[in-house]
Amino acid sequence: MGDIIVSMEHICKSFPGVKALDDVHFELRSGEVMALLGENGAGKSTLMKILSGVYTRDSGEMEIFGVPHGDLSPKQAQELGVAIIHQELNMCRHLSVAQNMFLGREKVKMAVLSNREMEAEARRILNELRIDIDPRQVVGELPVSKQQMVEIAKALSTDAKVLIMDEPTSSLTSREIDDLFRIIRELKAKGCGIVYISHRLEELQYIVDRVTIMRDGQHVTDVNFADTTMDEIISNMVGREIKEKFPRTESHRGECVFEVQNLNAGRMVRDINFKLYEGEIVGFAGLMGAGRTETTRAIFGVDPKESGTILLEGKEIKIRNVNDAIKAGIVLAPEDRKKDGLCTKLSIRQNIALPNLDLVCNKLGVINHGKENEICDKAVEDLMIKTPSVDVDAATLSGGNQQKVVVAKWLARDSKVVMFDEPTRGIDIAAKVEIYHLMNKLKAQGIAVMFVSSEMSEVMGIADRIIVMCDGRITGELVAQEATQEQILTLATRFENKVTAAANEEE
Ligand SMILES: Nc1ncnc2c1ncn2[C@@H]1O[C@H](COP(=O)(O)OP(=O)(O)OP(=O)(O)O)[C@@H](O)[C@H]1O
Ligand SMILES: [Mg+2]
Repeated sequence: MGDIIVSMEHICKSFPGVKALDDVHFELRSGEVMALLGENGAGKSTLMKILSGVYTRDSGEMEIFGVPHGDLSPKQAQELGVAIIHQELNMCRHLSVAQNMFLGREKVKMAVLSNREMEAEARRILNELRIDIDPRQVVGELPVSKQQMVEIAKALSTDAKVLIMDEPTSSLTSREIDDLFRIIRELKAKGCGIVYISHRLEELQYIVDRVTIMRDGQHVTDVNFADTTMDEIISNMVGREIKEKFPRTESHRGECVFEVQNLNAGRMVRDINFKLYEGEIVGFAGLMGAGRTETTRAIFGVDPKESGTILLEGKEIKIRNVNDAIKAGIVLAPEDRKKDGLCTKLSIRQNIALPNLDLVCNKLGVINHGKENEICDKAVEDLMIKTPSVDVDAATLSGGNQQKVVVAKWLARDSKVVMFDEPTRGIDIAAKVEIYHLMNKLKAQGIAVMFVSSEMSEVMGIADRIIVMCDGRITGELVAQEATQEQILTLATRFENKVTAAANEEE
């Protein structure tokens, strides 16, 4: 193993009402991939933000390449070779890929920004990483997975020696993840030290050398990955054992609650037909970009439909906008929590109350605070949302806890159809199980539940029925308990070869 390149001792950091880091010890060596693990709110991102100059510590010592450092600015950290890929994508949506990659270190020619030079350099880096994105494209128009690849390319373009990846794979496809792992191995071989934060524990085995575990703002243990087991890792993270990771309940399929016929909406939603029954959970599998998110958005009335019929309890309903959908009892917990799911400047209470104003207001439109408290407290308790109070801004929550608020706000209602888009993205293993229990609870109440997920194990473990999509179309349906990974992958890539062939022809 290489030399110690980062060492942090006795690091403390408090936010109002929270001791985020309490006497934390941390060490990284060159040429290693170290997984930094812990439940939502354990302090992982906060610790790494201190190392990369985003936050300053309250106390403690920090050495980078053997040199002691006090408070760092992000720029100083970058100059020292520390790069961070943030958990929350934070790019300028209206700027191009190249402009984002060189933000703050723009290339200038005779006092004028040289877009051409930045584009050429961005193209070189993207090519080297084999990432297929046009550097001139506006970032806001890219799907989340591509935005995440841009973040990764951006971090790598700074020639980092210490690279921090805060949940880099949370919205990547399996092929993109393979690419990322290849890049990680290459960097490791060059002597780069990598901190890898992830709640997808099954991916650790492919890249990780050592594991550091945190719990409640404290350092719990450091171990070589080879000397530990997954159960040991989990119980160190959670403080107890988790026996059942996928608590599937029996399915008693009842009446058909919801039916979509011949739905078309843009290129990614082509002739979609499916039914949801009471007493079952349907998982939508497929690769990122298969059209699953677009399908849920078209149903929910976020995006316009070109054609198609929607039947609720056998009767046709018209959903022209989100309001129509909510009134009919159809809800969607969306994928992109920052953009669609959460108002980060509002409190947790306001976020949860917002879609439920009809429930918490009296006839005159005045908020009944008792009722509001009841709904919020229940949500916080049910989903174990870690926060000092429901009145703090949603922005101050850890990533996973923000996701829980997105899910929570829809659970207060009596809905008939609940659609979840990547409900457990960035959520720790204990909270995942809580979300599965909640889905099971909805299922037991006779609510039609569907969820989109890119985690194959989750679709296979929780759904009763699996619908697979590829390139905007449904390519097959499987009974979950009989389905194999290969079957799902075959259906999920049915048009892939054709698509690539067509793309090559275009070129
Ligand atoms: N800017 C902030 N203001 C107030 N509290 C904060 C802020 N940032 C983090 N916290 C709090 O500090 C604690 C640690 O948060 P942190 O984001 O480091 O957790 P995490 O381990 O990265 O969790 P996750 O897996 O959910 O991303 C949490 O209780 C969080 O609410
Ligand atoms: Mg985090």
